[in-house]
Amino acid sequence: MAEVVSIAAAAASLPWDVDAVRADFPALAQLVNGHPLVYLDNAATAQKPRAVLAALENYYQRDCGNIHRSVHQLGERATEAYERARRNAQAFLGAAEPREIVFTRGTTEAINLVAATYGAANLHAGDEILLTGMEHHSNIVPWQLLAERTGARVKVAGVNDRGEVEMAEFERQLSPRTKIAAFGHISNALGTVNPVAEWTARAHAAGAVVLVDGAQSAPHLPIQVGALGCDFFAFSGHKVFGPTGIGVLWGRAALLEAMPPYQGGGDMIASVSFERTTYNRIPYKFEAGTPHIAGAIGLGAALEYLQSLGMARAAAYEQELARYGAERLAALPGVRLIGQARERTAVFSLVIEGVHPHDVATVLDTEGIAVRAGHHCAQPIMDRFGVPATTRASLAFYNTRTEIDRLAEGLEKVRRVFQF
Ligand code: ALA
Repeated sequence: MAEVVSIAAAAASLPWDVDAVRADFPALAQLVNGHPLVYLDNAATAQKPRAVLAALENYYQRDCGNIHRSVHQLGERATEAYERARRNAQAFLGAAEPREIVFTRGTTEAINLVAATYGAANLHAGDEILLTGMEHHSNIVPWQLLAERTGARVKVAGVNDRGEVEMAEFERQLSPRTKIAAFGHISNALGTVNPVAEWTARAHAAGAVVLVDGAQSAPHLPIQVGALGCDFFAFSGHKVFGPTGIGVLWGRAALLEAMPPYQGGGDMIASVSFERTTYNRIPYKFEAGTPHIAGAIGLGAALEYLQSLGMARAAAYEQELARYGAERLAALPGVRLIGQARERTAVFSLVIEGVHPHDVATVLDTEGIAVRAGHHCAQPIMDRFGVPATTRASLAFYNTRTEIDRLAEGLEKVRRVFQF
């Protein structure tokens, strides 16, 4: 054990070899519109390492059977790989037990699951659900639906001009009626890193259960749910370099056990008769129907890959990119950065007066630079800053300073084209 710890400590101090990391991602080595691809749309979806591609191919070429129901070799191999992926997710989150890991279609489904089960069973008219002003629609609409069904009320902690929710504001919106507090760990639109452990402690003191939307933090920060102190944590496979259509809901075992099922169907039952159905134990109670087996296995491979790189090292490298990018882009004439939080990741939301974000993104695409333009499924925070949309560059640990320079040069080209 001591040896394992010292190897991990030595690895943590190694410099980040970004070229070696990039070589693991075949999609990065392509030309787009005649230029080497600069992929800066990682908050929308991330590229996949060979380890993930190999795991998917292995499942479909060799181990393709259904899980938890087949006694034949292929079914057993598939079941073993699927449950190993669950243990990988447990290790990735520092969760206490594999049964606290529920596979879902993604963060969106995980939040909907909690709202529709825990929320519907525990919220009543007059109760409050606390969100923040920088949530993704996936962490707004499920709670609005719950509020409509129960008569509960959604409250919102407001965002300051830097793109932060101040602690005093968060506490001001909490009340003894707050039954659920749900907030993003990192804003997809601004890159703000929220103090979720402190918020969780305050929300617990008020008697609320806490869900953390980790869609944007799981790819960029080491996560230990015990240290965050929350009750639920959700993330998506495709943003942590795994497949689309798979994600994870982590929940405390006691809460998951007490919650009613989400969907009915195969695998979530213990026994069925027309008179009475009893439900399977957790986590299977929440995994109705044949799940995305290949997706879970691919996600497991992605999480193993991330563990081998070391999330703390990846985060330290990305912090360098965040600093460099903020300086480089802020120096460009006519470019305004939306969101200047003191704690932030390498997400740059840009506004160029007089040029539509879609036009900016289109010009950048002609240079082989992939960014996202739009409201980023976070319309309330766009409204807060008085813009309908932004152009967003979102980086990952395989991006480089040279690519930030390419982005800056691309924005210079936008200036020439639109003469702003
Ligand atoms: N929520 C993802 C994004 O921010 C799709 O782009």
